[in-house]
Amino acid sequence: MNVIMDYKKYIAEKINVDGVAAAEIEAAIALPPNTELGDYALPCFKFAKILRKAPVKIAEELAAQITCDNVIKEVSAVNGYLNFKIDKEGLAKDTLAEILKIGVMGGEYGSSTEGNGKTVCIDYSSVNIAKPFHIGHLSTTVLGSALYKIYEFLGYKVVGINHLGDYGTQFGKLICAYKHWGNKEEVEKGGIHAVNDLYVRFNSEATEEMEAEAREYFRLIESGDREANEIFEWFKSLTLAYVNKIYERLGVKFDSYNGERFYSDKMQPVIDELEEKGLLKTSEGAKIVDLESYGMPPCLILRSDGASLYATRDLAAAYYRKANYDFYKCLYVVAYQQNLHFKQIFKVLELLGKDWAKDMVHVAYGMVSLEDGAMSTRKGKVVWLEDVIEKCVEKAYTVINEKNPALENKREIAEKVGVGSVIFGALYNNKIKDIVFSYDKVLSFEGETGVYCQYTCARANSVLQKAENVDWSQFAVPELLPQEYEVIKTLASFPDAVKEAAEKFEPSIIARYAVDLSQKFNKFYFDCKILTAEEGAKAFRIALTAATKQTLTNALGLLGIGVPEKM
Ligand code: ARG
Repeated sequence: MNVIMDYKKYIAEKINVDGVAAAEIEAAIALPPNTELGDYALPCFKFAKILRKAPVKIAEELAAQITCDNVIKEVSAVNGYLNFKIDKEGLAKDTLAEILKIGVMGGEYGSSTEGNGKTVCIDYSSVNIAKPFHIGHLSTTVLGSALYKIYEFLGYKVVGINHLGDYGTQFGKLICAYKHWGNKEEVEKGGIHAVNDLYVRFNSEATEEMEAEAREYFRLIESGDREANEIFEWFKSLTLAYVNKIYERLGVKFDSYNGERFYSDKMQPVIDELEEKGLLKTSEGAKIVDLESYGMPPCLILRSDGASLYATRDLAAAYYRKANYDFYKCLYVVAYQQNLHFKQIFKVLELLGKDWAKDMVHVAYGMVSLEDGAMSTRKGKVVWLEDVIEKCVEKAYTVINEKNPALENKREIAEKVGVGSVIFGALYNNKIKDIVFSYDKVLSFEGETGVYCQYTCARANSVLQKAENVDWSQFAVPELLPQEYEVIKTLASFPDAVKEAAEKFEPSIIARYAVDLSQKFNKFYFDCKILTAEEGAKAFRIALTAATKQTLTNALGLLGIGVPEKM
């Protein structure tokens, strides 16, 4: 149930605009940020055309038609807006009942069943075997994981896919480098770092001869040679063991690790179909799909030596996902540098006549860099994601220790706060924006951070602990103070925030929501007494605190951030 929706529906039913469906009116009703004029507002501008009247006039006429009742307390027309003041206490009662009924233990508030029966595939993190897992992978990993949790919360079945980068000539290079310079013990000990060192060394020191050897090793992997494949599988298991530890820390999970290699024997049907449908052209010996009339360079399907490409494997992967999961949507959480790639893939699928091409979405995001500058994989200067997380956890420990040295479980709390700060830092801005990651910023207790939200939760929790002996379950809603109403209104809009985040593939909506709710709650907390309030208000304020804690916990949980009981 969604309290705000119910109120919008109720209000919409009272409004009659000729030629406009009630559902459309309902969708147009907004919550003005400033509640002085009203709690809900209908902008009348979009009806001007249909009604051939000025919006100001429309609002005035509509206002005159509506009679107030015990839900709608006041109606006014202001500058083309139809404003409503509602029974705030009624909203407070409904909202708190909704949260607390399922709250305290269940924590389902904000969830829904809208996705039941539908499957969403999410391709995210998609690591490259034997390459560093660096700060550039932060966004795809945490964005994908948040979308996973959000869709699941809305009742969808979600398939999380780590489309491993486990195919390509670089693996021939790696094996060659290992053969020349590597030894087993060192690689076992150094793990992915040792493997990466080999790759970096190959790129700076390899001779012509070694390059030729590397090509031969790649061919050997492809043709199923045992030794080459064993080394490759070994590098793969080292990489996965390494990234899995990070995934575990970040609370990230996958249902499939089918990577590029998995599709190497599944491309032929796609190529045949392209051929049959007359879409495949030969250009300088290569096979391509010409996309010129769509303003794009051709999509390369087979190189002149017959080798497949990244795009070929992605086409095969799309077929596979449709056949196996029958997805309602298939998301690719991949940096905007690959915009063209996905536009091409989606277009080729469309040309193949796949009507489901419209259900494929490239969820593009911006770059993350550190304050002290850029990084490059080739030269081996790269910021490993693990180190960023570790540093945040260490810093969190220092801060917590300073603020509250007597706290129990400081290490455990520092882990939640440190990891949370990294995740929140990556999710707070609109995903397409480039971000500069700053340790001090993400760990600030006062800024718009995960720590701030976690701290707010701990504060609410401490109030609740002190209220242990108060029976507040039978609270009545007193006449609301503005600070209280702001919290209520924000609490009531959580389900909408979740829905919107899913619709726009934008977890930042939930991150911003969490900050907004924290700010509103803290204002209430500082302005209004809770435990020492007079009897009439006390139970209600404790209930408001409990509902805030629950809702904040749910919001942060959807982002993959845990909440310590104490901080
Ligand atoms: N491994 C690729 C990279 O690091 C990302 C793969 C994204 N997923 C896909 N289906 N193309 O660039």
